[in-house]
Amino acid sequence: MSVALPRSATVAVIGSGAMGAGIAQVAAAAGHPVLLFDTRPEAVAAALKNIRAMFGKLAQKGKMSEADADAAGARLQAADSLAALRDAALVVEAIVENLDVKRKVFADLEAIVADTCIFASNTSSISITSIGAALRLPQRLVGMHFFNPVPLMALVEVISGLASDAAIAAQVYGTALAWGKNPVHTRSTPGFIVNRVARPYYAEALRILNEQAADVATIDAVLREAGGFRMGPFELMDLIGHDVNFAVTQSVFHAYFCDPRFTPSLIQQELVNAGFLGRKSGRGFYRYESDVNAPQPHTETAQTRATAPVVVHGKGKLAQALVARLETGGVSVEHASAIDNDGALLSCGSARLYLTDGRSATGRARDNQHADTILLDLTLDFSQATRVAVSRADQCSATAYAAVVALLQAAGLAVSRLDDVPGMAVMRTVAMLANEAADTVNQGVCTVADADMAMQKGVNYPRGPLAWADAIGLSRLSTVLGHLAAGYGEDRYRISPLIQRKTASGALFHV
Ligand code: NAI
Repeated sequence: MSVALPRSATVAVIGSGAMGAGIAQVAAAAGHPVLLFDTRPEAVAAALKNIRAMFGKLAQKGKMSEADADAAGARLQAADSLAALRDAALVVEAIVENLDVKRKVFADLEAIVADTCIFASNTSSISITSIGAALRLPQRLVGMHFFNPVPLMALVEVISGLASDAAIAAQVYGTALAWGKNPVHTRSTPGFIVNRVARPYYAEALRILNEQAADVATIDAVLREAGGFRMGPFELMDLIGHDVNFAVTQSVFHAYFCDPRFTPSLIQQELVNAGFLGRKSGRGFYRYESDVNAPQPHTETAQTRATAPVVVHGKGKLAQALVARLETGGVSVEHASAIDNDGALLSCGSARLYLTDGRSATGRARDNQHADTILLDLTLDFSQATRVAVSRADQCSATAYAAVVALLQAAGLAVSRLDDVPGMAVMRTVAMLANEAADTVNQGVCTVADADMAMQKGVNYPRGPLAWADAIGLSRLSTVLGHLAAGYGEDRYRISPLIQRKTASGALFHV
């Protein structure tokens, strides 16, 4: 059981920028007296004004009563010096991202507050162990990593360094819970959970862009409309800002001693070099000038149905969803008496459609000795998808490809063609997200449940990567990763030992 700080306990927030102001707002709304300190008093004054205005707006919208809004506003106070924080029970630091400056603030604070006062840092990338190393009582420090904007984002990563006291981490966890957040426990390792596990979302998209699989608008549309992600990777990087995203990628890459899993992208480096930082500079992958039309994703034009019978070979969930959509679209379907042993989902004449297994369509056509090979990318839920991505083997005839596209169109799907890259877009991205999440669990950074919760609440993923791995099937996931590793010959795609182990035993991540 985790225990929250009592609501009467004073919470101090140091740094009243974007994050500190949000943290102060949430703590005051939860009922704590809150002291806000910043080396720039004008920043504190501005933050307090904004937070009180925010409470007023919430009251106007009926989300809190007038009395509660006034009381929450009154619980906030400016502190004019660190010494004014002497009675705090919890201090949350949200100042500049610099180890020496953070260490100095906590060291100064230690001479002011009681020994029972808990220290929390909102650092997004600095080791909690390092920040704590300079303290007289390093066990009192944990990370309390909020996400931006703090009042809206539910996730809080509670981070333990080597010296952190587990009871203090539990109390900070309980306090975050009492503040209406979804906390997760994590060990102090580079990127913690979210900033580590999310790397492949950007990296795989950048790699397939680099290999010219499709343009950015198409890859974004596929990740959104087939993958179910709220934003495509390129529009998301444009929103975050390439300077920020590239810096996080580089920091994680160097912190893991240049593990090729985290290799940054030259494409993103060039955007930073050019000053094309995304929305904030008016140009990133997309252009944001008012006179520029948004580029449209590639979508195949309507194709004419072939006369050959449509035979469904699989019996799994995907095959069933495909049959249901085809029948709704007026396509009559025959069921193969035996499951085709090269794993095709359906065939129509000589054309065969397969779910990608991490091989290129061209390689699979050669392996199966079947030229008319078309691959389907992963979807979050095929029965709900509005778009799918396909790729075709170099050996595949135009007629066979058109026959499959016509069927998917009859099933009510927009079809985007990717050039033939191994693992396609959604499958490859999800496989690598799951692989990274599995490694965090395998290395004792967090639990399975916390890894999934972190990605759903911290970056709005439509499903936790490990729950997604279970849904894909760990054996299939291992096959996809194994083919990517073999195809690229890069250590980047090595399979997490935990995925290998669970595949071997037939276990799932979520029981
Ligand atoms: P910010 O630049 O908006 O605000 C930082 C504030 O700290 C400024 O008002 C500055 O005057 C004050 N400050 C600097 N040195 C100080 C000191 N020695 N004592 C007292 N105040 C000092 O920065 P932001 O974005 O709020 O970030 C703060 C921390 O939160 C950083 O560690 C950052 O990595 C982390 N973080 C930021 C996120 C974001 O999306 N901006 C997300 C999660 C964590």
